[in-house]
Amino acid sequence: MEILKRILSFAKPYRTRLLTAVFFMAVVAACGGASMYLLKPLFDDGFNKANPQNAFETIKNIAFMLVGLYFIKGVSFYIKDYLLNNTGQRIIMDIRNIVYDHVQNLSLGYFSRNKTGQILSRITNDVVNMQNAVMSITGIVGESMNFFGFLIVVFLMNWKLASLAIIGILIVVYPIYSFGRRLRYISVDSQNKIGEITSIAHEGISNIRIVKAFAMEEYEHKKLAQANRSFFDTFMKAVRITAMSQPINEFIGIFAISILLMVGGYQISNGTLSTGEFVAFAAALMMLFNPIRNLNGVNIQIQQALSSAERVFQLLDSPQEVKDESQAVVMPSFEKEISYKNVNFEYIKERPVLKNINMTVKKGEIVAIVGPSGSGKSTLADLLPRFYDINSGVIEIDNIDIKIFKMSSIRNQIGIVTQETILFNDTIKGNIAYGRQDIPLTQVENAAKAANAHDFIIKSQHGYDTLIGERGVKLSGGERQRLSIARAILKNPPILVLDEATSALDTESEKLVQDALEKLMKSRTTIVIAHRLSTIIRADKIVVLDKGEIKAVGKHEELLTESPLYKKLYEMQFEAK
Ligand SMILES: Nc1ncnc2c1ncn2[C@@H]1O[C@H](COP(=O)(O)OP(=O)(O)O)[C@@H](O)[C@H]1O
Ligand SMILES: [Mg+2]
Repeated sequence: MEILKRILSFAKPYRTRLLTAVFFMAVVAACGGASMYLLKPLFDDGFNKANPQNAFETIKNIAFMLVGLYFIKGVSFYIKDYLLNNTGQRIIMDIRNIVYDHVQNLSLGYFSRNKTGQILSRITNDVVNMQNAVMSITGIVGESMNFFGFLIVVFLMNWKLASLAIIGILIVVYPIYSFGRRLRYISVDSQNKIGEITSIAHEGISNIRIVKAFAMEEYEHKKLAQANRSFFDTFMKAVRITAMSQPINEFIGIFAISILLMVGGYQISNGTLSTGEFVAFAAALMMLFNPIRNLNGVNIQIQQALSSAERVFQLLDSPQEVKDESQAVVMPSFEKEISYKNVNFEYIKERPVLKNINMTVKKGEIVAIVGPSGSGKSTLADLLPRFYDINSGVIEIDNIDIKIFKMSSIRNQIGIVTQETILFNDTIKGNIAYGRQDIPLTQVENAAKAANAHDFIIKSQHGYDTLIGERGVKLSGGERQRLSIARAILKNPPILVLDEATSALDTESEKLVQDALEKLMKSRTTIVIAHRLSTIIRADKIVVLDKGEIKAVGKHEELLTESPLYKKLYEMQFEAK
């Protein structure tokens, strides 16, 4: 019920539209009911052979009225259907926008806890199912109107027969209801299985290179085939129930009608009922079955939609862990220093990743962070743009706690280049300018030149307008890296974070990238992680991190003698190069 209310709350802005639709539903129901009243005179007077002149008059009138009624009914149906779909789609559009907006604003932690495929399935499948819910709810209103319209008609026509029929209908409704309930469980199950299939396919496709490299096509195929088969089985369970429900309902219906026939026939034979009255009654009763059947279908859709809605709302309710404080201010331009003071951080409760971190980065400095893999270097850097919030301690920029600043204003002053270069399926220009469409091409070109990217760009098929394919698959690692450096150069941030920016590259492209990075670092404040020795050696300060703790801070020469860990890391890198 809560969920239903919440879905309906999305309909609020479209109240007038919906009420208009409901009005036209009522017109449709009324026309249907009224047409039943034409049957009695048709049979009793129209087909009366005793008075042919009068009979033709009647038939003519009835024919005209039928045409008129069905014209009104048709127009009303069109208006109602148009309005309903229009509102339904608008509501879904709103929900999808809200959901995606929410997803974009969720903190990084959410994405490491939840599978991409599942999040995608929320935005696509589940939202579409919710659309059915919205349509179904309005469907219920319409069908109920039809139902009550015909119900009133049958009672007005012959309350005795009607009461008898109602008992018959109740007998039919119960099995329909119980079929519906069983279907509900199955449909929830099959929704989950579809989600599984999406998830497996998403993983298999986005990791296709690894799949091929390990010759695991067959393995991936089996994973999907299994989920596929499992969905098939569940679906067939539903089919068995649905396929059975139709004939059973019909059979019970016919059974009830046969009883009516006998009772009605008896009344006709002793003169208490005219043929026309009986035909009209029977027809109205038949019409009564339609809304019942449709309501059953609606019921199934609603059950499906409710479980989807639940998942969508779950996503909508997942809190934004890192967010701006209500009084957040725009960060002034960076002037003096960044400092971490007694910073502690854990991704998972009771499992500290960073312990009591103290470090200062002065404006214009290059500070290198070195340490074994998993020691927390990337985490340390991720805390500065507030990708995650620290558990205790404070991070300050120019002696002000960064929590006071609007996140976007901090991030605007930080450029990040990481090992995984993240590109969009857009043109080269679009990727360098990311999101800033009004930037002139010359500026983009200058950034690309500084990033040693201009040469390969103009050699590619359409120059700056070349589409680079999803996640940049049409480029080499070094080219991708230089594009993200160009992006950082164009952004021109005072603070720079380089997280293993060259470690995935071969020596040849590393040189080009390294050269580009040098230009990028000029007159900026840089935090550089596990980089080329040359950069580390000339860093103003080197921070040696191990298991989340700072083990030593100093310059290269000092550390070589003072820090055995640094010496070891240095020797390992030295050997590798
Ligand atoms: N999103 C995450 N959720 C939970 N644990 C994480 C997450 N990211 C990293 N970790 C853990 O935190 C520790 C530090 O990781 P990281 O900062 O990436 O190390 P480094 O960059 O030095 O290799 C590792 O033990 C890693 O498993
Ligand atoms: Mg790392």
